[in-house]
Amino acid sequence: MGSETDRTMEETQAGNFQSDIHSRDYTEEYRRHQVGAQEMVFDAGRKKESLNGYWSYGIDQYDTCLRAKWYQENYMDEQGRRLPVDYSFDEWPQMFLPCCFNTELPELLRYEGTLVFTRRFIFDRQPAERVFLKLGAAATVCYVFLNGQYIGMHQGGSTPAYVELTEGLKQGTQAQNRLVLCVNNTRSPLQVPTDNTDWFNYGGLYRDIELLRVPDTYIKDFYAALEDNEGFRRAVFRIVMSDKVNGTATLCIPEIHTNWEFQVHDGEGRLEVSYYWQLWSPEMPYLYEVQVECLGDRVSDKIGFRKIEVKGEDICLNGTSLFLKGISCHEDSVLHGKALTTQERKENLLLAKELGCNFVRLAHYPHNEETARLADQLGLLLWEEIPVYWAIAFEREDTYMDAENQLTELILRDRNRASVIIWSVGNENPDTEPRLQFMRRLVDTARRLDSNRLISAACIVNHQKNIIEDRLGQYLDVIGINEYCGWYVPDFDKLPELLDNSRPGKPVIISEFGADALSGHRGSTTDKGTEDCQARIYEQQIETIANISYIKGMTPWILYDFRCPRRLSVLQQYYNRKGLLSADKEHKKLAFYVLQKFYQQTRLP
Ligand code: GCU
Repeated sequence: MGSETDRTMEETQAGNFQSDIHSRDYTEEYRRHQVGAQEMVFDAGRKKESLNGYWSYGIDQYDTCLRAKWYQENYMDEQGRRLPVDYSFDEWPQMFLPCCFNTELPELLRYEGTLVFTRRFIFDRQPAERVFLKLGAAATVCYVFLNGQYIGMHQGGSTPAYVELTEGLKQGTQAQNRLVLCVNNTRSPLQVPTDNTDWFNYGGLYRDIELLRVPDTYIKDFYAALEDNEGFRRAVFRIVMSDKVNGTATLCIPEIHTNWEFQVHDGEGRLEVSYYWQLWSPEMPYLYEVQVECLGDRVSDKIGFRKIEVKGEDICLNGTSLFLKGISCHEDSVLHGKALTTQERKENLLLAKELGCNFVRLAHYPHNEETARLADQLGLLLWEEIPVYWAIAFEREDTYMDAENQLTELILRDRNRASVIIWSVGNENPDTEPRLQFMRRLVDTARRLDSNRLISAACIVNHQKNIIEDRLGQYLDVIGINEYCGWYVPDFDKLPELLDNSRPGKPVIISEFGADALSGHRGSTTDKGTEDCQARIYEQQIETIANISYIKGMTPWILYDFRCPRRLSVLQQYYNRKGLLSADKEHKKLAFYVLQKFYQQTRLP
């Protein structure tokens, strides 16, 4: 018999306790069936059947479900004798999904490992229909089992997973199907992000869990964009079918009473339409309902037509240069972790509007897809980012593939969102050769997938020379710079010197500056940790940044305090306190009003 890794899944008979106690690389056999961007299904405008609700769960700290293949539910041996099992799928306690398990039970707050979730469901599958399970997000790795069969796994804690269930579903209107999901949030230095970040490592199935029905041949992708920068009239619509089929597609925009037919060859179709669109902007967030049909499948999306581009040192929206009055924001909630409610997501964007923002940096990973849809409606521009954060294993190809898959999933998920103007490929990575090659590949991937948005990254300053010269900058449209002059760099005069030393030759966004302040803690402007000190640093930063010609935006760190296991001082108490509001968003700190005054009263280019 070959080594453990040579064995097939069948050879390590489930239920035989010998099989699972001697297996070391038990995830290897599962990793052969990884789903990612290639398996995504365009789902806007499709009917979805929700599996949100109460699921039974087990806290499987030693991954015994994967090791002993609980999902096969082998209660009997070949002779029909009862076998001892170590799980009780339908008698376990229940948890309402979606959620971050950390915030559901006190004993799970700091838990890192596997939870097994399971439920039964009835699904009346129609003939010539394919069925996909969509997990809005599972942090961080999730293995999917249906009716005793392993279906596939997804890695990446902030982008959706689409897993096809078609063949494994039982037939019949009353047939009970069983899903088992093993989700594990253990950190790893080889993953993206690594085991070291400045935010809380929530785990769980924390975004919607849905079933999608599609025809045998379906619309796999639909992408709409305004592609000219003269009259802003030429819109391009693209569809990709699930198979290399030929046929006629129809695009309909009811509001302008139009139907256009266009041809699909080898599964791909493209239509150009020249029209005097009502352009989308923060001031006028106008969205069109766009419907497309092909070979019996139909999808629809709400599209805002706008053009974002760089001209010299300017960032231009619909031909007019603008200053991105922004704020950074984590996806964090005291009560719900990353599983923000719609109300919490909307509250965050409305607070940004109250601050006077036209721009929000969704740090440091893809936020819920609903956030970009809300920004489309409210009129906010967005920076979206993948968690290539700090010291990633840049020399590893597997790590690169993890990053590229998450970037591709993010772009395919959100590239119809008018609000999204910047894809960020990372944050604060050291300027080394392996990192440069890694990030350059990501930039190329982003450009290939979407030539209609700007590419950026939050880079670090060369502090020895006090100059902006990250080599990645040459490949970016916009350079993000994280600088903490007045805080981590106590000598504030380093900032004017840095900005005077630098000649980036393209637009720069100050993607982070800030200071910790405990809400309500007052003192002198030099007392670090007070609201007064934080406000003073904001005043100094604004006075310095506002007059630099190549700085075209800023997203100070951060809208509100957020949970962070690295922050253990008595002032921080497990929270990063750089927020302009307290973690519960009940208290606005002095600096909120400093920034608001700048954004609301200053006519910016
Ligand atoms: C870094 C990093 C943030 C972090 C912040 C801080 O710039 O990008 O994720 O929270 O600084 O130290 O507060």
